[in-house]
Amino acid sequence: MRVLITGAGGQVGRALSRLAPPDVTVLPCTRTELDLADERTVRSKVVALRPDLLINAAAYTAVDKAESDAEAARLINTDSVRWLAEEIAAQPASRMLHISTDFVFDGKTSTPYAPGATTAPLSVYGQTKLNGEQAVSDVLGSRGLVLRTSWVYDASGRNFVNTMLRLMREGRPLRVVADQVGTPTAADSIATVLWQLVRRTDLSGVWHWTDAGVASWYDFAVAIGEEAELLGLVRSHVDVAPIATPDYPTAARRPAFSVLDRRATVEALDIVPAHWRQQLRRVMKEIAFG
Ligand SMILES: NC(=O)c1ccc[n+]([C@@H]2O[C@H](COP(=O)([O-])OP(=O)(O)OC[C@H]3O[C@@H](n4cnc5c(N)ncnc54)[C@H](OP(=O)(O)O)[C@@H]3O)[C@@H](O)[C@H]2O)c1
Repeated sequence: MRVLITGAGGQVGRALSRLAPPDVTVLPCTRTELDLADERTVRSKVVALRPDLLINAAAYTAVDKAESDAEAARLINTDSVRWLAEEIAAQPASRMLHISTDFVFDGKTSTPYAPGATTAPLSVYGQTKLNGEQAVSDVLGSRGLVLRTSWVYDASGRNFVNTMLRLMREGRPLRVVADQVGTPTAADSIATVLWQLVRRTDLSGVWHWTDAGVASWYDFAVAIGEEAELLGLVRSHVDVAPIATPDYPTAARRPAFSVLDRRATVEALDIVPAHWRQQLRRVMKEIAFG
């Protein structure tokens, strides 16, 4: 089976290449190899590579920048998703797996969001991602699948873990928002589920996957600090203070509660998610020891 991976240089894209099953021929495309902003390149590349399946791991993920750069976010998160889906639709029997986000929800609830829950994005990023989901389902129907996830990190990406580590190493006390709750999810964990979904040609529509448990950004930061101390990644203990969202103004609004209900995925794939704290420990060991 030939599997084309777009956004192969990103966190999930790299994890997909790393964890690819041996019987799959992976066709990884980074931005240099396939710039999704260019419609002609997108269409001709998919035609030339003739994949049995496409996993779109690319996205415009700069959530705050998207507020002032909506055109660019729309181009990558919506328009290019439609072009990819159209080219996959033109190839008989090809399928597409697409990744989306908890930021399609407004967070005005306190129970985990099921895949069919009402969406109401608060940001340009969330809206453009939601429109991308819609493009996959409009164009591909049962040959398309959307996997929503949240708070993604790995050992080397631009993410919350590495940002916190850098600030902790600088030794300054940190203030982190405690009133936004979600689930940190390791990129490896998403890639593992995506490879299982590759085999499940009977599944389509919207699915949710995150690691287990819930946390605020503050909880996440405290845990990063504890692991960093244990692993000797910081010289001394760094205090983390909980603050409220208005005390840390950002360009984009974020949902206060964006825990995803992944029970349907757990049942369909018969997998048990690891707790985010356990995954964090594993990823931070990777940061410490390679
Ligand atoms: N990160 C999160 O916290 C989070 C949370 C929920 C859902 N998600 C979703 O999960 C998926 C994977 O995200 P991630 O965390 O792996 O993000 P990431 O590390 O930012 O990777 C995104 C990749 O997309 C690439 N890309 C951006 N513009 C492109 C273009 N014009 N042409 C080709 N490639 C382009 C980026 O390339 P460059 O490296 O060259 O910029 C990057 O390699 C995305 O669909 C994202 O929306 C992410």
